[in-house]
Amino acid sequence: MALLEVKGVNKLFLSDGKEMEALHDINLSIRENEFVCFIGPSGCGKTTLLRIIAGLEQASSGTITLAGDPITGPAPERGMVFQEYSLFPWRTVLQNIAFGPELKGVPAAEREARSRQYLKMVGLERFETRYPHELSGGMKQRVAIARALVNDPRALLMDEPFGALDAQTRNIMQSELLRIWEEEKKTVVFVTHSVDEAIYLADRIVIMSARPGRIKDVIDINIPRPRNRTSPDVNVIRDRILCDLRSEIVTV
Ligand SMILES: Nc1ncnc2c1ncn2[C@@H]1O[C@H](COP(=O)(O)OP(=O)(O)O)[C@@H](O)[C@H]1O
Ligand SMILES: [Mg+2]
Repeated sequence: MALLEVKGVNKLFLSDGKEMEALHDINLSIRENEFVCFIGPSGCGKTTLLRIIAGLEQASSGTITLAGDPITGPAPERGMVFQEYSLFPWRTVLQNIAFGPELKGVPAAEREARSRQYLKMVGLERFETRYPHELSGGMKQRVAIARALVNDPRALLMDEPFGALDAQTRNIMQSELLRIWEEEKKTVVFVTHSVDEAIYLADRIVIMSARPGRIKDVIDINIPRPRNRTSPDVNVIRDRILCDLRSEIVTV
């Protein structure tokens, strides 16, 4: 069953008094529990599309529904994890995670218990009283994931969340995210510009064209997890995606 339904989404921005088309006729159905990765050249509108799904930005035309309801603004049912670290520097790790439940008025004891549960899930139980500046990049993104999950979202929206991490930490975070996704049974919409990351993570990869962003190709990845990053079937998919992306760069 489709959880997220994107229909005919266009987005125009005004830049220097001129209209600039950022997204053109985006259509996609995303199933419950599906892990979908978007990949495409820089500036093709990946962040814009994710922000529209998050309700942080409005489509110029078209609709997006979640479980049949139109998206009209941000809500905890769509948890967002940003590319840049977005924790509150003045809050401890536990207080950062507890932010959503606090806004909802969940009583202190209950929100702390729930926040601890997610802190444990992301492997940071020993760090609950630390502040963001005391954490590494990977740890900060673990906290950001826990902070989104504690609200029990229907969909987790992630915008290049591991883009600033070193290669080793990034691989670990990808495996950790898959473990959490399997435990929590969330629908994940994940933006990346790494072909390898997309193939390691996704049930389905959506390849976008250069500006204005259009859906150029959609690839089902039917390889069992955990995936071997260099197996022959992974290499075939990598070649296809690289070929798709190369032709975009040539035509810009
Ligand atoms: N608020 C905005 N106002 C004007 N132009 C914008 C705005 N946000 C994004 N854009 C433009 O829209 C295009 C797509 O941007 P973005 O979604 O950030 O791309 P990506 O995430 O794929 O790199 C870019 O050309 C960018 O400059
Ligand atoms: Mg972006």
